[in-house]
Amino acid sequence: MDFNESNATEAVLDSFSKIEDKRLKQIMNSLITHLHQVVKEVEPTEDEWMKAIMFLTKTGQKCDDRRQEFILLSDVLGVSMLLDAINNRKSKDETETTVLGPFHAPSPTVTNGENIAKSVVGDNCIVSGNIMNTDKNPISGASIEVWQSGPDGLYDVQKDGDVVDLRATLSSLKDGSYLFRTVKPQYYPIPVDGPVGDLLNNLDRHPYRPAHIHFMVKADGYKDLVTHVFIDGDKYLESDTVFAVKKSLIRQLDEGFDEDNNQKCYNLNFDIIMEKN
Ligand code: BEZ
Ligand code: FE
Repeated sequence: MDFNESNATEAVLDSFSKIEDKRLKQIMNSLITHLHQVVKEVEPTEDEWMKAIMFLTKTGQKCDDRRQEFILLSDVLGVSMLLDAINNRKSKDETETTVLGPFHAPSPTVTNGENIAKSVVGDNCIVSGNIMNTDKNPISGASIEVWQSGPDGLYDVQKDGDVVDLRATLSSLKDGSYLFRTVKPQYYPIPVDGPVGDLLNNLDRHPYRPAHIHFMVKADGYKDLVTHVFIDGDKYLESDTVFAVKKSLIRQLDEGFDEDNNQKCYNLNFDIIMEKN
């Protein structure tokens, strides 16, 4: 029988009958069923389909060792956060997770109290908290990786040269506490010089993420945690372009004084609760 509108989906699903990998078969069946459904519903013209193909082509061409445009696409379409929600369902009151983002990179080890703003200048900020388990007992020796953009909205890896700044790895102390000095984070746009930027523009969407600091925390016997702390009051908290804000991750920035350096600073407190493996 000819391949036609009414038997198209069945014909393709039938062609998968020999797939032995059950998971692959499930994924392909679902993918084709939904993809065909979209095509039947939208009835794209051939020009429109070619536009879609060209968009995906450009997305691939934009990728290199430092840039992953497909992940950015998944981020702005809410797929990354949907995946996060499905894979990190909370079982107790452990700290919620959020997207990794494209700017994670190896970072220098620092000791507690150090300033991770090496050459970037901004409003001084002390970030501190406790790493604990769900029974509120301290976890010592946890590895805490942090990274953030500067007041110009850029991460070090977005700039020319090899300068490493505003990123560090430290360890929680015996009592589970940690503290580092930095500059106040600022809201910033995700990279818009590629097809994802064009897409946001065509969809009348802004590219901004509210101010945040990234955390990746690892401790023996606990699940690795990838999260952010967001700054209360940021104008983009309600419209993060990658849908990654969770209320439980928003903290207030308090005005304070850094006695050790005899200067005004902001204080940001962020306790982290880890879930057992
Ligand atoms: C980030 O927070 O670094 C980020 C996350 C998703 C997309 C772009 C940037
Ligand atoms: Fe970020």
